[in-house]
Amino acid sequence: MSLTENAIAPSIAKRFARIAGTGSHLPPRRLSNAELAAQLAERGVETSDEWIVERTGIRARHFADEHTTASDLGTIAARHALEAAGCSAADIDLIIVATSTPDMVFPSTACLVQRKLGVHGCAAFDLQAVCSGFVYALSVADSMIRAGTARRALVIGAEVFSRILDFDDRGTCVLFGDGAGAVVLEASDTPGIVACEMHADGRHVDILCVPGTVAGGKVLGDPFLKMDGQAVFKLAVGVLENVAQSVLAKAGRQCSDIDWLIPHQANIRIMQSTARKLKLAADRLVVTVDEHGNTSAASIPLALDQAVRDGRIRRGDCVMLEGVGGGFTWGAILLDY
Ligand code: ACO
Repeated sequence: MSLTENAIAPSIAKRFARIAGTGSHLPPRRLSNAELAAQLAERGVETSDEWIVERTGIRARHFADEHTTASDLGTIAARHALEAAGCSAADIDLIIVATSTPDMVFPSTACLVQRKLGVHGCAAFDLQAVCSGFVYALSVADSMIRAGTARRALVIGAEVFSRILDFDDRGTCVLFGDGAGAVVLEASDTPGIVACEMHADGRHVDILCVPGTVAGGKVLGDPFLKMDGQAVFKLAVGVLENVAQSVLAKAGRQCSDIDWLIPHQANIRIMQSTARKLKLAADRLVVTVDEHGNTSAASIPLALDQAVRDGRIRRGDCVMLEGVGGGFTWGAILLDY
């Protein structure tokens, strides 16, 4: 150790990040499988409540109206999280919004949320990792807080996936919903977030994508979500177990230390398979996919907020968050709530 390191080491207090409050918001329009099936039948697309429940565990989803954007949903979720944390928007020095359905090409949804919260000056940016977006965003905020670049961050997952669904493709349009979830993450002397991991494998770009873009004043390519469901299913099951084990090893903890597992809410079969592999009892799994569908980057903070507000997750509980999605991307966070 050099002289300089020796001199400064004692003055450096270890810094962590902890969740100070959670919030969420769903657009009011709830569509049951039967209601969606009836609407799809009108355009000649056949599906049923039975098929959707059996293959995915989804019973309903919420869809935003045509005037509501990701920043609208994210701002309401953020306000609930600020209230739960007992602070105001003026206390925030970083806003990260994880979204794949931003309001516009630019500026970022995070800047729009900042404006809607009535503050200015703090850093604000979007993060795009599809359904892994919230885990990525929380990991980035954790790093920034531990590095001392931020003290109190708003981390939001907000989506209006209904905008990119092809309602003539029954293999995808029944799976997704709209919503937003948020947390206030703040500096702390004790964890908080214990360990994080983020991964991507761009070789699988094509199995889950919205290949279109805008150019020359037109939509170029296909602006609707495309998914090879079985390929995504196989990859998801494998990476979710591996990343959970890896994060546990990093934290020096065992599967039996996990009080609550909150995986990305895409399909109940993937979630239950992960819980079984981690030897967790079924009641340790937080499930919202039945009522929300897959809300992409919003699914984990929505589920977290629900389990905090209904009293299941309490201060000190060990929680594993796991994201997986387009890219192909995946990641996990182990935290003491
Ligand atoms: N209603 C009725 N029948 C349907 C529907 C529907 N909504 N959709 C498909 N089918 C039919 C198919 O046409 C097919 O019929 P066929 O056998 O006559 O050809 C049959 O059902 C089986 O279709 P599969 O696609 O093989 O069904 P599978 O059991 O694989 O389930 C599903 C599909 C639910 C999409 C599943 O593969 C899955 O959940 N995959 C993972 C999705 C996921 O985890 N995504 C996460 C990331 S999301 C993100 O990052 C944005």
